[in-house]
Amino acid sequence: MASNKSLGVGFIGSGFNARFHIRSFVGVRDADIRGVWSPHREHAQEAADLARSLRVGEATAFGSIEEMVADPAIDCIWLCGPNHKRIEDMEAIVNAITSGKGKLIGLACEKPLARNVAEAKRMVELVEKSGLLHGYLENQLFTPAIQRGRALIWARGAATTGRPYLARAAEEHSGPHMPWFWQGELQGGGVLNDMMCHSVEVARYMLTEPGKPRASIRPTSVSAHIASLKWSRPAYVERLKQMMGPTVDYRNKPSEDFAHAIVNYVDEQGNPLIVEATTSWSFVGAGLRLSMELLGPEYSMSMNTLDSGLRLFFSREVKGEAGEDLVEKQNAEQGLMPVVDNEESDYGYEGENRYFVNCFLEGKQPEEDFYDGLEVSELLMTAYMSAEQGRVIEFRPKDLDEFMPAVARGAWKP
Ligand SMILES: NC(=O)c1ccc[n+]([C@@H]2O[C@H](COP(=O)([O-])OP(=O)(O)OC[C@H]3O[C@@H](n4cnc5c(N)ncnc54)[C@H](O)[C@@H]3O)[C@@H](O)[C@H]2O)c1
Repeated sequence: MASNKSLGVGFIGSGFNARFHIRSFVGVRDADIRGVWSPHREHAQEAADLARSLRVGEATAFGSIEEMVADPAIDCIWLCGPNHKRIEDMEAIVNAITSGKGKLIGLACEKPLARNVAEAKRMVELVEKSGLLHGYLENQLFTPAIQRGRALIWARGAATTGRPYLARAAEEHSGPHMPWFWQGELQGGGVLNDMMCHSVEVARYMLTEPGKPRASIRPTSVSAHIASLKWSRPAYVERLKQMMGPTVDYRNKPSEDFAHAIVNYVDEQGNPLIVEATTSWSFVGAGLRLSMELLGPEYSMSMNTLDSGLRLFFSREVKGEAGEDLVEKQNAEQGLMPVVDNEESDYGYEGENRYFVNCFLEGKQPEEDFYDGLEVSELLMTAYMSAEQGRVIEFRPKDLDEFMPAVARGAWKP
């Protein structure tokens, strides 16, 4: 590892998500962002400049993934490119390592690990071949409210009256910011693949006893429903085309903008547990809303990111430009508006990056890793199967490895 004892981090991708990560490193010790690669060099340079301006690292824009992996200043990679480039980017990293380049110790990959189970298995195979420590970047597990609420619920409520049995998680906003998210073939699905990966995993995490392994609760069946509530309406098909360009054609190739799933689990004694997840791109409120609940025999917890402590009111005389300065996926600039005052922390990025940096510095395999990302993909694909077939599917269905949702094949009819 680099001699100055801080972990040298290289980013693959320079978009919205990479920039969120870079800002969060202000709250992370013992790590420096030293590199960014993106196919668009000027974007990589902008992200590197952001890191320098925040003093989170003397970052360089690299010309290729191989070059970044080979640089001795880079100890680990945060893989934050678009979903359809995941395997290609991962193969470039692993090829560089196996041809003797660099001395990486760890790799962390954004959600979803891949677009389907076959690709997720390939990601696991590649990371095993690389011999690197690996992490699955599921930020919602590290949301301070979830960390604290989960610890208190288990220490007080569950310890005295029995384990929690129902976890609800929802993520809703008015639609993604880039065309590829809306295109099922590129993204891997619609809102179910894009956002339910968060909700099923954070709900599973809340239901798992702290210190116990993932396998201490076991999924037994999945039932799900998907719909296009808003974006395949003719007026919104046109609106979407104007916003995202002609490649996003929801008249002919829509993706779901609403998804609901129930995942049935059993605990070690065979008691039933339920995860209930809802996600939508058809929610118009102040902005992004994450809400979670955990219920047990004598207690409950709940959180909602739009119930923020800070609220601003702007009268109709305040006529500013549209922006995202109050809350992610902001929908208004007037009236009573919630402000999430530290989004990088409140959505879990800061805690997540602190955790993975510490694991890599200590040479420890993170508890949230590629195997978890694979299981999330398995649950999501089972949910698509259920929605397509209109029935409850026993987990794990035998044809899951080959399954690709109709949405991801451009063949879905709402
Ligand atoms: N944890 C979260 O809450 C969260 C939020 C947003 C996005 N994400 C995930 O992060 C990833 C990136 O999303 P985003 O919002 O930054 O998308 P984005 O479209 O804003 O940015 C993607 C960037 O990747 C670049 N790119 C193109 N080809 C690439 C390649 N082969 N390798 C690397 N980069 C390439 C593009 O130029 C662009 O700058 C996605 O997998 C997405 O699901 C996670």
